[in-house]
Amino acid sequence: MRATFADTLPHDTVCDLLALAVPESGTLDRNASAVDKHLGGRLAGAVGADGFTGKRGRTLLLHALDAPFRRVLLVGIGRGADPETVRRFAAVAARQARDIHAKRVAVTVPLDEAGGAGGAADRVRAAAEGAGLAAYRFDRYRTDEDPEPDETVVLARGDRAALTRAVHLAEITVAATCRARDLVNEPANVATPTALADLAREIAARDGMACRVIDLDEARQMGMGLFAAVAAGSEQPPKFIVLDYRPASGAGASRTVALAGKGITFDSGGYSIKTASGMATMKSDMAGAAAVLAAMGALKELAVPVRVLGIVAATENMINGRATRPGDVVRGLGGKTVEINNTDAEGRLVLGDAVAFAVREGVDEIIDLATLTGAAVIALGDHTAGLMSNDQPLADRLLGAAKASGEQLWQLPMYDEFAEAMRGEITDLKNSAGREAGAERGAAFIGTFAGTTPWAHLDIAGPAFSEDRKGPPYVPLGGTGYGVRTLLRYLEPVPGK
Ligand code: BES
Ligand code: MN
Ligand code: ZN
Repeated sequence: MRATFADTLPHDTVCDLLALAVPESGTLDRNASAVDKHLGGRLAGAVGADGFTGKRGRTLLLHALDAPFRRVLLVGIGRGADPETVRRFAAVAARQARDIHAKRVAVTVPLDEAGGAGGAADRVRAAAEGAGLAAYRFDRYRTDEDPEPDETVVLARGDRAALTRAVHLAEITVAATCRARDLVNEPANVATPTALADLAREIAARDGMACRVIDLDEARQMGMGLFAAVAAGSEQPPKFIVLDYRPASGAGASRTVALAGKGITFDSGGYSIKTASGMATMKSDMAGAAAVLAAMGALKELAVPVRVLGIVAATENMINGRATRPGDVVRGLGGKTVEINNTDAEGRLVLGDAVAFAVREGVDEIIDLATLTGAAVIALGDHTAGLMSNDQPLADRLLGAAKASGEQLWQLPMYDEFAEAMRGEITDLKNSAGREAGAERGAAFIGTFAGTTPWAHLDIAGPAFSEDRKGPPYVPLGGTGYGVRTLLRYLEPVPGK
């Protein structure tokens, strides 16, 4: 969907649906009052009537007859008008627009509590993001889908350049998030490691990045025995993918950030096989990789000022006569030995080699994203990722980026005992150690390979894939694109810096 910005007055805006926010107090804000004058007080009359209040998520649809806008949607937003409230408001409007086949939707931007324009750019961006994210559909395999709404116009007044940039940033973020969603929604017989490598090459060719694709033989020769052990039982050839983004000359990259994604295109569990229900959604076990690839594809357009190394460890976790057995001992990049006592704890294996690879490249910091553990889902639920890190300043910056982007991220501890639990009986490490602190222990295994390089791990097993519609109204069923918005916020240039 396209998003634009306009500073026409709401009641002069030609559209199929005009969305107005109503706070819990029920008093119409400046936008809504002005529209109400043109509707002879019908809005004020409707508030409180027909069971509509300004409670968060309530909606009321009115026909406007001969106004330039054909319909008005009142949306309750509860208290306050922070960016996340605006994002959800615009998402509700975009969903409604689809239900009634409205082509052109105008979203007003609720004023902040003081009634002023403070932080207008943030809220305009949030409105465009909410509408764009909510309009997403994965309809490639449907033969009879309706086209999605054509255009969202965000209505606001203020510094034109700043507001236009805000909408532009939203469009980049939405496109990247939807690309990640598509990748996750594609089935495992389509989104193979080879397909991910082809996409990486396409991104590299378009945006002038270097791209290296390491196959199984080369990975073995390089010493990436953990990655190779996971790939051992697959017919699909694994791909260890490295994309190298450098900012346009002149910007002077002062540092290099590595993004590493778990790219298990299907996780059967291997010989430590999953149950049928546990396996059902395991095409989504490459959601970390999807977020990394989608973010890499947005760096040039965003003019990210640092060098970014995008690493995707892509392979299936399958079973055949050559597959890894529980108890097998292998060696990771850099030489550490690992006893694979559970073949279903494969994410930490491929990421161990990916993180070791990043350290070898001499990067300044490493951020990995992985659908790593069921334990993270039990701890934090379906809409929140767990953050674990060996460097608190890095963790704090990521928490700030997540907060600004509207993605829920919560830090879990990284005590020494978690790494101790991963020490092997006959090896340096084992890859699984009981159910206690499952998310932290899994993270600690990966952290061992980061050494002293600042490293942060996002366990996105909960929020990466949605099986109900109980989350925010811009989160669809299936792949959610979780992580893309946080990564892009983290990397985007700070104006004036
Ligand atoms: N891909 C799974 C984790 C997962 C579970 C993601 C549910 C999304 C939803 C991962 O590879 C896995 O199987 N983890 C095991 C680790 C255990 C064997 C130490 C788990 O969480 O049970
Ligand atoms: Mn697994
Ligand atoms: Zn997995």
